[in-house]
Amino acid sequence: MSGRVSTGLKRLDQCLEGGYESGIVTEIYGEPGSGKTNLVLFSSLYSSRMGKVIFIDTEGVSTERISQMERSDSVLSNIKFFRIRSYEEQLESVPKILNLVRSMNDVVLLVFDTITIHYRAEREIRSELRRKTSNTLITQIEMLNNIAASKDIPVIIVNQVYMDKTTGEVQPVGGSALSHAAKAIFKIQKLSGGKRELVVVKHRSLPEDLKCSFSITDTGIE
Ligand code: GTP
Ligand code: MG
Repeated sequence: MSGRVSTGLKRLDQCLEGGYESGIVTEIYGEPGSGKTNLVLFSSLYSSRMGKVIFIDTEGVSTERISQMERSDSVLSNIKFFRIRSYEEQLESVPKILNLVRSMNDVVLLVFDTITIHYRAEREIRSELRRKTSNTLITQIEMLNNIAASKDIPVIIVNQVYMDKTTGEVQPVGGSALSHAAKAIFKIQKLSGGKRELVVVKHRSLPEDLKCSFSITDTGIE
């Protein structure tokens, strides 16, 4: 059975019976500002005390926010950031990054924040590309699943949401292809102030709709 890797936050670990699951892809989605990046950065900083963390970044992560969370250079040097600026660059870079990860033996966590951002932009430009982009997204998630399994590490993919006009509810981008590929899915909801709720949408060993609370603070999450 696969193990769990701490989120870096005790109350979340207790709620999730240990944290993120090793060996699989976990998807985290939520509205803008819900705290997805805060959570995955916080977890990355925590895990980087144990080994190397790969952080694939399509958003342009805030170095100011990182330094609010962590000041130790030795910890930061264990996180390898890869910045991806376009859809084409993502297609080209992801296999290369994963080959590098394959050759490393001290990687403890891989984060991809946000995997769908360039897909969204690409699809909005040309809707006929929908099928093609869907296929390349599935291919990338298959590669991430393979890395998670072969390295026995958690792979966390962050996803955005869109408003489903027929149901009036927010849904994760990427549809069923993405939600089938991720073995665990968490949604983050904004409550008042800095309060947030992580909701289990899909999991192999936790109940659906389990809710875990945390807060965004000046120095990270608590
Ligand atoms: P997108 O990438 O836009 O989809 O959002 P996200 O879900 O990644 O949100 P992110 O993790 O960037 O969280 C943004 C939230 O963190 C906002 O509500 C900010 O107000 C909050 N935040 C950022 N810095 C601080 C801080 O120093 N103190 C406090 N209290 N909150 C902060
Ligand atoms: Mg973000």
